[in-house]
Amino acid sequence: MDHFNYRNGKLHCEDVPADELAAKFGTPLFVYSKATLLRHYEQVRDAFAELDPLICYSIKSNGNLTLCKLLAGAGCGFDVTSGGELHRALAAGGDPSKIIYAGVGKTDDEIAQALRTGIAAFNVESEAEIENIDRIAGTLGKTAVAAIRVNPDVSLSATHVKTTTGKKETKFGVDLERAGQVIRESASRKHIRVAGIHMHLGSPINETEPYIKAIEKINALIDELEADGHHIEWFDIGGGYGVDYETGQAMPIGEFAEAMVPMLRGRKYRIAIEPGRYISGNAGVMLTKVLYRKTGGEKKFVIVDAGMNDLIRPTLYEGFHFIWPTHVEPPTRGRDVRVDGDEKVDIVGPVCESGDYQAKDRYLPVTERGDLLCVHTAGAYGFVMSSNYNHRPRAAEVLVDGTNATIIRRRETYDDLLALEQ
Ligand code: LLP
Repeated sequence: MDHFNYRNGKLHCEDVPADELAAKFGTPLFVYSKATLLRHYEQVRDAFAELDPLICYSIKSNGNLTLCKLLAGAGCGFDVTSGGELHRALAAGGDPSKIIYAGVGKTDDEIAQALRTGIAAFNVESEAEIENIDRIAGTLGKTAVAAIRVNPDVSLSATHVKTTTGKKETKFGVDLERAGQVIRESASRKHIRVAGIHMHLGSPINETEPYIKAIEKINALIDELEADGHHIEWFDIGGGYGVDYETGQAMPIGEFAEAMVPMLRGRKYRIAIEPGRYISGNAGVMLTKVLYRKTGGEKKFVIVDAGMNDLIRPTLYEGFHFIWPTHVEPPTRGRDVRVDGDEKVDIVGPVCESGDYQAKDRYLPVTERGDLLCVHTAGAYGFVMSSNYNHRPRAAEVLVDGTNATIIRRRETYDDLLALEQ
C-alpha cells in the first residue's frame, strides 16, 4: 500500500500530479511520499509492538537525510554498515543508543568512530573482528557491546543469489555450529561484551518459513548458552521483509509478526529488528521521460532518460519494477499487465551498455517522445545505488507531503562531477 495512485487518469504522489513534479524538478526524478514512509515504519512498530523491539531502519536502503530525519523523529533507530552511514544517521538526529553497526569489514577507524559515538552495539561477523574491536576498545578505555551474527544456514526460495546471506558459504556471520564456542571464548575478553545474537537471512523475502527455521535454530543455541550461564540479552532478527513490486506480491509485516512473535515472546532476551526495504521501498518512485523510440530486428525499444546509473536493480538482480505511463491508469501493477493496443518493448536508458535497461519484453501502452513513465517501488536501493557512470549527474530527490513538494536533494551539476578532482 502506498500513496502513488491515479486520479482522473493521472498518476499522483499523495495530492500532487506526477507530471507537475517532472515539469518543475526535471527527470529522472526520485519522488517520495512522506505518508507512505511513516506508515510503513508504523506498520513495523505496530506488528511487533508486543515485543517492544528496538527498530533499526536499515539506512543502506535509502539514506536521504530528510527521510532519515522523519524516521528518527518518529522514534526509529538505525542499522548502519559503514562509518559514512553512521555519520549520516547521526546527522539525521539518530540517537546513538538506537544505532547498531553491522558489516564484515569494519576498519579500525570505523570501529573507533563507533566506540566514541557510543552506539548501542556492533553486529560482529568473525572471531578476528571480535579480537580487533576488543583491542581498539582497550586503547580507547571503552567497553564495546556486541551481538554475534550467526549464519543459520537456511534457504530462501525466491531471493536473488546476490542478496542471499543466511546460507553457509556466504561471507556473512559465523556458522551456527561454531557460534556458541565463539561466544564462550569471548567471555574472557576485557573490552568487548558479546551479549547478543544477530541474524539477517537475505533480501527481499516473501515467505515466513526461513525466519521460522532460523529462529528455531537460534533459540536452541540461546537455550544452550543460557544453561551454561551465558546470558543473551538481545536477539536481532534482521531485515529482509519484502515489498510489493507487483500488486499483492509481498506479505504485510503483520503476517511475518504473527508467525515470528509466538517464538520470540516470553523469552529473556530483547528483540531488535532491521527493516530497510519494507519502510522505504514503496515510499518512492522514479519518474523518467521517453526520449526516443526505435526498432532493432524484431524488437521495439523505448529509450528513456533514466539509465542503469540511476536505477541498477533491473540489470544487477533481474529486479522487476512495474513501469507505466503516468497519464494512463493501469488495471493493476504486475508482470503481465496488458491493456488494449499495448506493445511489447524493452525500456532502455542512455548508458553505453547493453545491460542498461529498466525492463525487457514488457507490455506497455504505446508511448511517444515526451511521455512520462513511472518506475514504481524505487524507494529502496534506488538512488543510494546510483552512480555517475557515463559522467551522468545523479538525479534529484523530492519529498511530497500532501499538496507540498520539496526538493530534498538537488540534481547534481556538471561542476559537481568535477569538484573533487585536482
Ligand atoms: N540488515 C542487514 C545486516 C542487511 O545486510 C540488510 C540488507 C538489511 C538489514 C536490510 O534488508 P531489507 O530489510 O532492506 O531487505 N541492493 C539489494 C538489497 C541488498 C540488501 C543488503 N542488506 C536490492 O536492491 O535488492
